[in-house]
Amino acid sequence: MEILDGKKISNDIKSEIKAEVDKMKERGEKVPHLAAVIVGSDGASLTYVGSKVRSCERVGFESTLVQMPSTTSEQELLKKIEELNQDDNIDGFIVQLPLPDQIDTQKVIMAVHPDKDVDGFHPMNFGKMALDMSTFIPATPFGILELLERYKVDTKGKHTVVIGRSHIVGRPMSILMGRKGWPGNSTVTLTHSQTKNITQITSQADIIISALGVPNFLKAEMVKDDAVVIDVGITRVPDESRPRGYYLTGDVDFENVSKKASYITPVPGGVGPMTIAMLLKNTLLARERHRSRS
Ligand code: GUN
Repeated sequence: MEILDGKKISNDIKSEIKAEVDKMKERGEKVPHLAAVIVGSDGASLTYVGSKVRSCERVGFESTLVQMPSTTSEQELLKKIEELNQDDNIDGFIVQLPLPDQIDTQKVIMAVHPDKDVDGFHPMNFGKMALDMSTFIPATPFGILELLERYKVDTKGKHTVVIGRSHIVGRPMSILMGRKGWPGNSTVTLTHSQTKNITQITSQADIIISALGVPNFLKAEMVKDDAVVIDVGITRVPDESRPRGYYLTGDVDFENVSKKASYITPVPGGVGPMTIAMLLKNTLLARERHRSRS
């Protein structure tokens, strides 16, 4: 069994991005600028956005954090998005999800200008992704592809089972793993809450990508020998004995599944850090495209 070390690979990617930014600075060019909008004070979302912004500093990007209260109206958020769309100093931005109930997430996703949509959530970018056109690929699926590539995991003709059909991970992942090329060329099964007899399906999988958010969902008896197991779940489990009052756990019963798997991602230190690295990569791409337009 080999660990797919997202922490290490994400650090490699950040170093590569920093080298690019250093070259931009030497040439006297503007460096990439990412803005992140967060509405409300959900602890996990604040942590994610905080590390996105800190990572920008590490690679030499400019960053702007926009914090809005949980009572923010849809109109106020759409106004802020329009400001960011118009701000020529900002190359790309994200609106952290989930949003409070009074805000229609679809309207928000549609409001972000596709050229600045470094999350790749806008229908124009999602459609381009599905059609194999050059675009921003959502950071978590993009990070999983990058991990598979850097560890030279063979995906051609393999049966990939994706668990969960979220717009952020499961749905795009199922499209990307089935597309021509590598990583890709898999035969993909997308499973979800209405899937019957999921164990029968997962136990035939060569590659399992679990993005469910249910701790210890994937047990050893659901996995065949030598499967590749990617764990996207990150759930905070309350635990007063920990300094933070919780610990993080994935969808996979790591202790037992890792004994059968050929490759497996840990939680934390697997997919999570890759998501941030690929957001930075998309922001670099946004800067390059912005520059060539102006
Ligand atoms: N919430 C969970 N993952 C993501 C992500 O990749 N982007 C945004 N904007 N929100 C998220």
